[in-house]
Amino acid sequence: RIFLLFPAQSFGEGFNEEEVEKLQRPQFPNGFFFGAATSSYQIEGAYLEAGKSLSNWDVFTRIQGRITSGENGDVADDHYHRYLEDVEIMDSLGINAYRFSISWARVLPRIEPFVTIRHHDHPQELEDRYGGWLSPLMQEDFVHLAEICFKSFGDRVKYWMTINEPNLFIELAYEQGLYPPARCSAPFGNCSAGNSDVEPLVAMHNMLLAHAKAAKLYREQFQPTQGGSIGIVANMNMFEPLTEDELDREAARRALAFDVAWVFDPLVYGDYPPEMRRYHGSELPRFSLEEKEYTKGSIDFIGINHYATIYAKDCLYSSCSQIADRAIKGFVEGTGERDGIPIGEPTGMPFCYVVPRGMEEIVNYVKERYHNKPMFVTENGYSSTEPEEAQVEDLLNDVKRIEYHKAYLASLARAIRNGADVRGYFIWSLMDDFEWTSGYSLRFGLHYIDRQTLRRIPKLSAKWYKNFLTNRSLYN
Ligand code: NOJ
Repeated sequence: RIFLLFPAQSFGEGFNEEEVEKLQRPQFPNGFFFGAATSSYQIEGAYLEAGKSLSNWDVFTRIQGRITSGENGDVADDHYHRYLEDVEIMDSLGINAYRFSISWARVLPRIEPFVTIRHHDHPQELEDRYGGWLSPLMQEDFVHLAEICFKSFGDRVKYWMTINEPNLFIELAYEQGLYPPARCSAPFGNCSAGNSDVEPLVAMHNMLLAHAKAAKLYREQFQPTQGGSIGIVANMNMFEPLTEDELDREAARRALAFDVAWVFDPLVYGDYPPEMRRYHGSELPRFSLEEKEYTKGSIDFIGINHYATIYAKDCLYSSCSQIADRAIKGFVEGTGERDGIPIGEPTGMPFCYVVPRGMEEIVNYVKERYHNKPMFVTENGYSSTEPEEAQVEDLLNDVKRIEYHKAYLASLARAIRNGADVRGYFIWSLMDDFEWTSGYSLRFGLHYIDRQTLRRIPKLSAKWYKNFLTNRSLYN
């Protein structure tokens, strides 16, 4: 039995072995979407074909020292040329939905397309011309792109996600200097000096307005005839207090408000969360009355990318390292350990610990704060790194990934049983791909990609997913 290989207790408190053992597809509602997810830059390659211009990532990956081993997405998984084979892979998995981002999107028969309009990449030209997301000009350019997408594909695409993870992108691109345009709002990581504390707040403001304007256009001109729905996707860690101290409890609540509500309060209620106003005061941009009007209620669903749970430690009243850097995290330090003991099994990604209860908790948080607005788990996944001596067989035998998904799904099933309106679940990712600054060194895929031949090989997790979707037992 699989639990002999991976003891269940390592999932920690709140983890129910029996529920995981009994996990079955019929526990999820009728019409529930089970999918896999990817994004264009991470898998397509063909970076110069068909008149494509350079993107921010094409340029960024060429700067020495930015990406592990100097890798880039020029070829990636060559999905641009191999998409038909990849659609077959989807078909053979038995998924009924596929989340991807728009570049060169194709029609995917019998699979419901969930399309992201902007998943971390955009033309470098907009960066050079006016500074990308720091400029309000980006709003109109984004709406222009969205309009083309709605017009061209809206007859077939019924689930639109405007922007993927604005919160994580902004943290990495404008606070920590790790994603392009690699600006820092304080001395941090690669940066010897900060540009400006308010840049992350301004960039988010422009992204939210870009979303809201695109949603307004969709609602007015396309939704009435095309009948689809529109949402946005945020990265959502779950935070638990590091200690029982009220300061840390409050820090955990604040971290969620800064992370999740920063994106969704404006789009549901028309303004930034009060928790953020309190700390940022006038630095936090304001929505005009007119902007408020169309920003409020501008989503039909909430996209949840959930991977991990971490501890929250207060930095407002207690001493922490680099307090200023926490400005967009609510002056909270996230940490994966308490008294030297990790919160869950570590994965290949820093700060990504396996804590299945976090799925139910984050879904409940969103359910409560946004009155059970329809939700999709747009990403959930397990990454492994490749030890030097790893054999392909080891990578294909990804038992830990299977256990991760089973446990997270059991936790999700519990949230749904208790009334959460979650309508779909997407595994990140359909296949190993270009994992941004980690290059190809982190693997999330249900399918292994041989970097030499680009051959796709199903991992054990692909077989498990397929069997789970067809209500068969784990391996047969
Ligand atoms: C979030 C992002 O949307 C995706 O691009 C990334 O590869 C995964 N999570 C894993 O880090």
